[in-house]
Amino acid sequence: MSSSSALRTGWAVALVCAAWGVSTVHASDKFPGIGRTATPAEVKAWDIDVRPDFKGLPRGRGSVRQGEVLWEAKCASCHGSFGESSEIFTPIAGGTTAEDIRTGRVSSLMPGANQPQRTALMKMATLSTLWDYISRAMPWNAPKSLSADEVYAVTAYILNLGSIVPAEFTLSDANIREVQERLPNRNGTTTAHAMWPGAELGGKPRPDVQGSTCMRDCKTDVAIKSFLPDYARNAHGQLADQSRPLGASRGADTRRPAPEKMANSSPEQGAGAANATVMPVLQKNACLACHGMDSKRIGPSFKDVANKYKDHADAVNYLTGKIKGGGQGIWGSMSMPPQALSDADAAQLAQWLARDFSP
Ligand code: HEC
Ligand code: HEC
Repeated sequence: MSSSSALRTGWAVALVCAAWGVSTVHASDKFPGIGRTATPAEVKAWDIDVRPDFKGLPRGRGSVRQGEVLWEAKCASCHGSFGESSEIFTPIAGGTTAEDIRTGRVSSLMPGANQPQRTALMKMATLSTLWDYISRAMPWNAPKSLSADEVYAVTAYILNLGSIVPAEFTLSDANIREVQERLPNRNGTTTAHAMWPGAELGGKPRPDVQGSTCMRDCKTDVAIKSFLPDYARNAHGQLADQSRPLGASRGADTRRPAPEKMANSSPEQGAGAANATVMPVLQKNACLACHGMDSKRIGPSFKDVANKYKDHADAVNYLTGKIKGGGQGIWGSMSMPPQALSDADAAQLAQWLARDFSP
């Protein structure tokens, strides 16, 4: 931006602020010169939390049946028709029993229980949490798009999946407290911990981690116990280009193998130093979609290619041509389409296959 346009923009901002000042803005009394007091409408828009005592819960109602229709349309794609969820997401229902509804303690949470995963209905101690979470965060791809009645309806449907309410039930602000009294894990919380210490701890906060600074017999040598495998080194692109150019830590040059790997290549990982060097070029040109280092995929393994040509005098030229032009019939009936890679990349890969491949 030129300095004159910067000036003009500055003026525009100043004018807009002045106009706001006279009409709607209430300068903050508490922090003079910083921001302004939020308007009641702004506060209302943010103030959507529903608390365990149901303070903040909007009025409304929704039935299990309405919830089922909504669930199928807006929730089941991720959470499954019965709340079992796809393998990626946490299941919503399951793992609770009629006995849990009676006691308010979910037995499948107890030590030794044979429950594969914790579901939402198992964990939750307050129904407000379920209502609030759906209202503010779901559906994941369109949060805050549900009306209050719709949130009541899907919440009722979830409760029905756990047999907490019957299929004919309509959940509303008028009866939600009664349903809270049937929540399977309503008695499952404890205050005997540091975060919100209760009577058990005399109400006194105490850290839940104990430790002291090491002042004696401290270890002086650093032993690195594990490394990223060579093939994953460049998985996130060139780290050197992604970190700020100042300060003590710099991104490694991930286009090259780690310096210690250059001297000490590890064949067990299927990629020695030379293989690691070309890995970014192979990735960039999507060669690994069809070729494995050691394994045949659609095309031959690079190891087999390297073995076949390692003693051919003209191998580098030949392979450069084949990498660019593709081919068929040498390794089987599958053909390799021509590849849109640069001459330099093709030559580098051919040189690697013909001469530098580390078996
Ligand atoms: C596009 C996928 C998607 C859709 C559609 C979706 N959700 Fe979710 N849901 C998620 C994700 C992701 C989470 C967070 C899971 C996590 O963090 O473990 C989640 C979490 C939840 C949880 C809390 C689970 C827990 O135990 O913490 C509830 C309850 C829930 N969703 C209800 C709904 C409802 C009701 C709808 C439909 C109105 C819906 N979701 C639609 C993806 C989705
Ligand atoms: C769509 C799948 C596919 C892609 C992508 C692909 N190849 Fe191939 N490649 C093949 C097949 C199939 C063959 C075997 C062709 C044959 O039998 O002649 C082959 C053969 C080769 C050969 C041996 C040629 C010969 O004459 O022996 C080399 C070298 C090779 N590919 C390198 C590469 C490189 C490097 C890339 C990335 C730039 C690449 N390939 C991308 C499928 C593919």
